[in-house]
Formats: sequence, structure tokens, C-alpha cells
Amino acid sequence: MSGTLEVSDLHKQFAIGRPAVDGVSFAVPAGEIVVLLGPSGCGKTTTLRCVAGLEHPTGGAISIAGKVVSQPSRGIQVAPRQRDLGMVFQSYAVWPHMTVRQNVVYPLKHRGVNRTEAARRVDEVLALVGLSEYAERPVTALSGGQMQRVALARSIVYRPKLLLLDEPLSNLDAKLRLRLRDDLRRILKAAGMTALYVTHDQAEAVVLGDRIGVMRDGKLLQMGSPDEIYNRPADLFVANFTGATNELTGTLVARNGAFGTVDFGDGRRGEASLLHEVGVGDKVRLALRPENIRIGGNGANTFAARVTDRRYQGTQTVYDVELFGRRLEALELGTAARHEVGVETMVSLPREGCWAYRDEGKGGEE
Ligand SMILES: Nc1ncnc2c1ncn2[C@@H]1O[C@H](COP(=O)(O)OP(=O)(O)O)[C@@H](O)[C@H]1O
Ligand SMILES: [Mg+2]
Repeated sequence: MSGTLEVSDLHKQFAIGRPAVDGVSFAVPAGEIVVLLGPSGCGKTTTLRCVAGLEHPTGGAISIAGKVVSQPSRGIQVAPRQRDLGMVFQSYAVWPHMTVRQNVVYPLKHRGVNRTEAARRVDEVLALVGLSEYAERPVTALSGGQMQRVALARSIVYRPKLLLLDEPLSNLDAKLRLRLRDDLRRILKAAGMTALYVTHDQAEAVVLGDRIGVMRDGKLLQMGSPDEIYNRPADLFVANFTGATNELTGTLVARNGAFGTVDFGDGRRGEASLLHEVGVGDKVRLALRPENIRIGGNGANTFAARVTDRRYQGTQTVYDVELFGRRLEALELGTAARHEVGVETMVSLPREGCWAYRDEGKGGEE
């Protein structure tokens, strides 16, 4: 049933422009969900379309369940229909003139599954996606979220080896998007699907992925568990893209295993985590999450700062603090805003949440 996907050193160069996919390698073990996450234009859809066989890669190899399906150097390019995969896209690919049941049974008819078995499987998958009561309705009578459930049911009912999903929640309104996002992982897991899911939405990636690969400019920057991506980003771009939007700059003056001492200028020094190759004497950029900055506190890595703005959001408050002449955002959970605008206060930057990357002289966030 479900199989492993292997992508090695994948390249795709269109007739014009820079490479859309530039040496991407990763695997999706059978039964796992891997999410490719990155900003618009980074090559997610092109990677997915190469896996589907809808694009011809210009280099590298792709195999599904142990069988090579694309390898230009050996002239191998298996047609999409022969790859045994399911696909769900942003647009609801359902047949409007059919009922829910007719939509979902369609791929089984085409595969010659007998009527009794087909009916059993359709009932099973409709229950899985939560549409049992809607089986006999025309799909046009459904909401966007329900239509996407039909598209999903139709893509998994024939038990493909691999399911490809390209931003399937993007056309839904916010509330439906969250509902289906949470359901989707449960459905894919219950069906035992191997899935490759692409999105630009980090919250979706974290909820859905067993592993997340962050892409930029056709390259895969880091592949890891959601926890690794969030708590040990290997790259400044990964840190920024997943919400570590504050930045400080300095020079690394000492190394101490996983940590280092950073000089911020004017004799101010602090400790930071080194998640990336950095040498003593290197200029560094530090990324910090708003929720990892503590207003108040004392001890190591504590500096004088000033609260310059606050935005009360009900269950949390976001503060602007001025530190070393820079504006940082700090976030505190809770329904009470505790700090006044204008106060001079200490701010502590726990070294575990203060990540130093070598300053490559280029921008972090796009
Ligand atoms: N058919 C095409 N012809 C030329 N360039 C393309 C084509 N499809 C995508 N691209 C380019 O490849 C890059 C990656 O696009 P895409 O894979 O769609 O990114 P994403 O899905 O991450 O937004 C972009 O620069 C895009 O303009
Ligand atoms: Mg895309």
C-alpha cells in the first residue's frame, strides 16, 4: 500500500530564470507526512510536480516504493498515471455534476474494483473524512471545506502509494482552514498514507508534519522534526521564517561548546546558542523569538532596556522594547498587560533561545 518516496539531488531548470529546484534531496518514509515549507516561489510546487511526473526534472532521481520514476540521466520518466499516487490541490478538484458518493467511487470504477467492495471502501473513507451524512448530496451543495474533504476522500479511496498535497487549505476561510488542518493529520494517519504536503504556512507545517523541510530559492535549507525546526533552526532564514523575527548583531568572542560569548559593542556581552558553524572573531546575527524574550528578570544575559509600546491582544500582550538601540518584540502570555509603556526595565535573553548565526551579509527574511 503506502510506500517510501526518495528524492535525490533533484534539479529543475525551466527555459528561463534561475533553477526552480536546485539540488533537493529528502525521503518520506512509508506512512510519514513530510511538509515542504517556504515562501512563494521557493520551488515547492515544482518539486511536487516533479514527484507527480507533471514536470520533467533536469537532474537527479525520484523513486516511489523502491521504483525509479524519474531519472533524466538514464532517460527514465514514468507517466503520472503509472506512478500510483493521489493528489489534492488548492482548487477543489471535484466533479460538480456528481454526488459526493459518485465523486469518491469514480477512481475505484476506473480501477475495476467490484461494486460491493467499492461501496464498502467509499463508506469507510467518507466516515474517515466526516462526510457520511453527505454521501448522496450533490457536491455543489457543500461548503469549500467539505468539497476539499471530497477531493481528499477521492484521492485516498484507491489507496495510492503516495499522496501529494499542494496548499490544499489555501482557498478556505480561516475557521474552516483550522478545522480541516487539525482533521487532516488524523485522517492521513488513520489511512496510513505516505504524504508530501507543501505550504507557505508555518502553523500548518507544524501541525501536520512528522518532519518539515524548509525551502528557499530552490534549495532545502533544513529538514527536521517540528521541534528541531522550531527550537534548533540551522539557518538564520529558517529561524526568521518560523517566527524568530527579532535580530541583534555582534561579534563572537569566545566559544564554549554549544554556546558562545557575543560582544554587542560598548562592553556589553552575552551568551548565545551556536546552532551553526561560527568561529571566534566572526560577525554574528542573533535571532530571537518574541516569546523567548523576558521583560524583567535578573542574572545572566540581562540588559537594561525600555518599553516603547505595547499591544494588548486579550490572551497575550506584545511589547516593543528598545535594546542596544534596536527595537525588539517581546510577547507575554496572560490576560493582564504587566508593563507600562515608557518604563526602563531589565530584559533577559535566555541563551537557549538566543541563536547566533554567522553574518553572511545578506537578508534573512524575504
Ligand atoms: N512553468 C514554468 N516556467 C517557468 N518558470 C516557472 C514555471 N513554474 C514555476 N516557475 C518558476 O519556478 C520558481 C518556483 O516556482 P514554484 O515551484 O511554483 O514555487 P512555490 O510553489 O514554492 O511558490 C519560481 O521562480 C517560478 O516563477
Ligand atoms: Mg506553489
